[in-house]
Amino acid sequence: MRAIVYERFGPPEVLEQRLVPAPVAGPGEVLVRVKAAALNPKDSLIRKGKFVLFSGTKFPRMLGYDVAGVVEALGPGVSGFSVGDAVFGMRNGFDGGTVAELVAVKASELAKKPPSLSFEEAAAVPLAALTALQALRDCGGLAPGGKVLIHGASGGVGVFAVQLAKALGAHVTTTSSVKNLAFVRALGADVTLDYAVDSGLEPTRGWDVFFDVFGNRSFAKARASLGPRGVYVSTVPGPGIVATDLATRWWPGRRGRLVVVNSNTGDLTFLASLVASGRLVPVIDRVVPMAETAAAQAHIETKRARGKVVIHVE
Ligand SMILES: NC(=O)c1ccc[n+]([C@@H]2O[C@H](COP(=O)([O-])OP(=O)(O)OC[C@H]3O[C@@H](n4cnc5c(N)ncnc54)[C@H](OP(=O)(O)O)[C@@H]3O)[C@@H](O)[C@H]2O)c1
Repeated sequence: MRAIVYERFGPPEVLEQRLVPAPVAGPGEVLVRVKAAALNPKDSLIRKGKFVLFSGTKFPRMLGYDVAGVVEALGPGVSGFSVGDAVFGMRNGFDGGTVAELVAVKASELAKKPPSLSFEEAAAVPLAALTALQALRDCGGLAPGGKVLIHGASGGVGVFAVQLAKALGAHVTTTSSVKNLAFVRALGADVTLDYAVDSGLEPTRGWDVFFDVFGNRSFAKARASLGPRGVYVSTVPGPGIVATDLATRWWPGRRGRLVVVNSNTGDLTFLASLVASGRLVPVIDRVVPMAETAAAQAHIETKRARGKVVIHVE
């Protein structure tokens, strides 16, 4: 089968399209014929060798975590899916492999594709929307009437965070560059700030959740802007936020948390239900063919993508 692979850590140019052996579905796995795969900053970070402790140094490595496609075969012990089902999901871990014609995915990391979405739209959902959901609902405890700041609202995670925060009943303030203010307002934001002139860090703001999607703030700086039981949630792992997460997780006052996205059928099904009711709409920056994967990754690395970058896999 055709797949995007790389033989060494490096820039997007290390990616190549190649014929590789097709995977088989092991116990608990579903073999998916891929129709579309979405890219994320995670793919670039692993390709650059930034997660080498977790990814290891075995090559060739395969690319991609988000997938939408059709069930080709079921491994032993799989229930809940049938051959021919349209599915979407995200692979956990660091092996990737969704930018390929076939991928074996744990059944527990898949759900039925929302019928109203194309495969490209469905592939855009899992990693980014799961991150937003788990940051706001699980780490932040966002509740109806809560005040949330979403810092970096126009990218892959941000566009879902705005919509999910509204679906959770929150009052939503966002930051973005000035060119994206109207775009983020159209997604449902109540107040839109230009991060170049207003960081959202004023102590009087009293955020219940400060979701640092872009990841260039810190708990130390955000702390004073939080309400008495407010939570700062970061997407970017580092020693500071990991230590803060451990130290404040059960604290009754202001807390700092690191979201670590986890793919599971329950949350994917919940997201699919929001899509079905029209409360969650994927935003796609661009769809490109497999042959343009390297250029697509380079585009994400400009940190200027508006929504998701999706690979169309024939
Ligand atoms: N921990 C986890 O489990 C997890 C999961 C998913 C993602 N992440 C991380 O979360 C981060 C965001 O992911 P993503 O997929 O949303 O990335 P992305 O799509 O590449 O984000 C692009 C967005 O970043 C915004 N941006 C650029 N410079 C900014 C600045 N100085 N301040 C605020 N926003 C800025 C841009 O908006 P403007 O053009 O308006 O500036 C653009 O829309 C990445 O670092 C990613 O690795 C972590």
